[in-house]
Amino acid sequence: MIPKLIQSIFEAGRYAASADNSQPWHFYWDGEQIRITYDDERVSGKTFTENNPATLLAIGSVIENMSQAAKSRGVDIQWTLFSEYKKPDGYAVGRFDIDVYHFDGQVDSKEPVALFERHTNRLGYKKEPLPDDIRSLLLAMNINSARMQLHEDKDNIKKIANLVHRCSEVRFQTREVHEWLGRSLKFTQEEVMNGDGLDVATIDLPPGGKLFLKFIKDWQRMSVLNKLGGYKILAKMDAEPIKNSSALISIIAGAAGNDVINAGRLMTQIWIELNVHGIAVQPFFVITDQLSRLEEGGVPESLLHNISAVKQESTSVFDLQANEQLCMLLRIGLPRSEAIRSRRLVSELILTDLDNGNLSK
Ligand SMILES: Cc1cc2nc3c(=O)[nH]c(=O)nc-3n(C[C@H](O)[C@H](O)[C@H](O)COP(=O)(O)O)c2cc1C
Repeated sequence: MIPKLIQSIFEAGRYAASADNSQPWHFYWDGEQIRITYDDERVSGKTFTENNPATLLAIGSVIENMSQAAKSRGVDIQWTLFSEYKKPDGYAVGRFDIDVYHFDGQVDSKEPVALFERHTNRLGYKKEPLPDDIRSLLLAMNINSARMQLHEDKDNIKKIANLVHRCSEVRFQTREVHEWLGRSLKFTQEEVMNGDGLDVATIDLPPGGKLFLKFIKDWQRMSVLNKLGGYKILAKMDAEPIKNSSALISIIAGAAGNDVINAGRLMTQIWIELNVHGIAVQPFFVITDQLSRLEEGGVPESLLHNISAVKQESTSVFDLQANEQLCMLLRIGLPRSEAIRSRRLVSELILTDLDNGNLSK
């Protein structure tokens, strides 16, 4: 039996953020320590690979959530990060500074509330600038090898929107990304209840948008539409909220896997803190994705020059030092309306108790 304290820490990990809500992780409890790995069997070929920045950011989000859940009960987790992300070691092992079987503190599975309240808001934000106290709070947030920058200057925001626009144009012409997104979209209540993927109700769509998304889910249709310039319209719509925002945050880190995991921790810290203060957040991964595809050879040949140009410009726009990369862009602002919350997979699918048999079998 997994101790209650550990169960509540897994519960916090389960609520972490991930690209398209893919939840690429699997957790193990061996009686002494927590292990976080990539769930090859469940997600391989359906979402980002285990070394992709998207996955490493999500793992950072898990680690941050788990650490905050433990800390709120006065418990410390010491994390060892591995650079090989395969089983059995995986990304990280967490050890505790107490005997968890004899923990006599209070355990409520949804404590601390703040991390369970963190969510993505893809709706419209108000144009007002950030309140001053939020600005000072943000500027104090940095972690190990990752750092954040706040962008409020109109010209700078315009340049970033332009980079998003250009990357998004390529994204809508890239079969793999399009098919991953298409597969993750959930249109019916039954699909939503599975607990993973993107509920289309969480996306800010114009009238008829849901039907349109269903139509272009199929790559053959999307590529026909692209011949008529469909990708241009979609990319313009994608970049519009960035162009209109009063503030953006860039999360910057080194290129090593563990630096990106730390960037994921920082992203999550900032995100939780902003949501607690009533500030809405929406991540934009498209620039990082295209730049990482450029490195890995995943950009269509005919579009390579577009992304090479983005790479060059992003160094000055994000003020990147040597060996630094943009890990994530966040649109932030005062929300106009409440966003619908996304669901999660049941713990039986993502947690194995090695100490007491496999919960999922
Ligand atoms: C690595 C990563 C990339 C993401 N990229 C985007 C994105 O480009 N656009 C977007 O709207 N949301 C993006 N998200 C947000 C996820 O879709 C969201 O975290 C997930 O659906 C769970 O929902 P929640 O954040 O409301 O808990 C990203 C999240 C992560 C961790």
